[in-house]
Amino acid sequence: MLTVVTKSTNVVRHAQTITRDHRASTLGHRNTVLWFTGLSGSGKSTLAHAVEEELHRLSCLTYVLDGDNVRHGLCRDLGFTIEDRVENIRRVAEMAKLMLDAGVLVLTAFISPLRADRAQAREVLGNGEMVEIYCRATIEDCEGRDVKGLYKRARAGEIPHFTGISSPYEQPENPELVVDTGSRPLQECVNQVITYLAHRGTILLQDEATQRLAG
Ligand code: ADX
Repeated sequence: MLTVVTKSTNVVRHAQTITRDHRASTLGHRNTVLWFTGLSGSGKSTLAHAVEEELHRLSCLTYVLDGDNVRHGLCRDLGFTIEDRVENIRRVAEMAKLMLDAGVLVLTAFISPLRADRAQAREVLGNGEMVEIYCRATIEDCEGRDVKGLYKRARAGEIPHFTGISSPYEQPENPELVVDTGSRPLQECVNQVITYLAHRGTILLQDEATQRLAG
């Protein structure tokens, strides 16, 4: 694993007087990080955004950090070697931690292919703050859909280090949730996540929302 060297020395943290609990009480909901992981094309972003829409309806303050977007800005200097992916996930975890602290219910949609990196993110975020959601879809499902045409190009040897083809994806061993995005309808997957959050006490479902989600 890549060792990240801390270059800034002689820097002392400034204590915060307004805490996360203060912010949560203003917002009226708990926050957490929903960490969606899965192959490219498994439906992570689609699910994350659909869950965000539902959470927004429930008046939660949310934000989606998405691989394809973050790689245009914060992580635009990174490619797809293992070292670059490690750094990508490290930055995302730190970013998510800041947003979590600010009171946001964060949703991240990154392949995040390595168990060690997801474990590292869990450590950065703090105990119990990360809900790992495995978007389960076979490589055949993802390749069959190939929405962005990347699998075809990867098979043709045009894209090196492609996840599932020439770069590994390690399935989560103990995720909080497994969602069958490869085979189940989107709304069913959304309901599964929202129901989990309600059981966990992260959100409070009003009667109207409970009925709507029950279909
Ligand atoms: S991660 O492995 O570092 O977590 P990330 O989620 O940020 O990846 O970016 C994945 C997205 O980049 C894919 O959905 C796909 O659109 C695009 N992509 C481009 N090249 C690759 C590649 N070699 N492997 C996987 N995805 C790639």
